[in-house]
Amino acid sequence: MPIAPVHHSQEGVVATRVKPYAESAASYVPERPTLEKVRTAARGCKACWLWTLGTQTVFGEGPRQAEVMFVGEQPGDQEDKTGRPFVGPAGKLLDRALDEAGIDRETVYVTNAVKHFKWERGERGTRRIHKKPNDAEVRACRPWLDAEIALVRPRVVIALGATAAQALLGKQFRVTKDRGKAIPSALAEAVFATVHPSAVLRAPDPAARATAERDFIADLEKVARHLQARA
Ligand code: URA
Ligand code: SF4
Repeated sequence: MPIAPVHHSQEGVVATRVKPYAESAASYVPERPTLEKVRTAARGCKACWLWTLGTQTVFGEGPRQAEVMFVGEQPGDQEDKTGRPFVGPAGKLLDRALDEAGIDRETVYVTNAVKHFKWERGERGTRRIHKKPNDAEVRACRPWLDAEIALVRPRVVIALGATAAQALLGKQFRVTKDRGKAIPSALAEAVFATVHPSAVLRAPDPAARATAERDFIADLEKVARHLQARA
């Protein structure tokens, strides 16, 4: 929970814990939503404190009729600056992997579990270092993702990494154990989960990196097969 501004009292300086945020974006979601109306409304979201960290809300992008929706964790540095999801290094890798798996990026909607960039200053104060959003932040932002799923109605939703997977499939879900499987869900025909492309980029050496990328592509190929089998 954020710490409220410091109050000065006779006893000295004290910090009081308060709940200054709505803690759910639900009240910001327009009543008769369209994707454009929701996107516009999300620009003004202040439901959790992350709006104070990010430059702007990074809403999902892609065709309204998309069959496939990828859900990442949260925007990174470049996404925060440009206002567009998956345009940085992780997005480049995702583009390449989609191409390899034979999924047309133009038919794909990409979004994130959390719509503002959470970060902290690196030790030398230059770079903004990504910080994992916590459960409360994921929960606060959830109405935006639910609205996107309800309006796009993708056949398949793919969670990228543990944050998105646990948001969509439950806290007990383990990507390491159940990646690349079609999981039955009320959200879509199937929900898949795989690793986050950033995890592929963080592999410790070139050999591990190549293996991780191959495994990632293999998971996307399973999604492609699912789409074809039921087309
Ligand atoms: N990582 C994410 O999870 N989402 C983005 O949009 C970019 C990087
Ligand atoms: Fe709203 Fe989500 Fe941003 Fe929090 S992270 S302010 S809930 S858009």
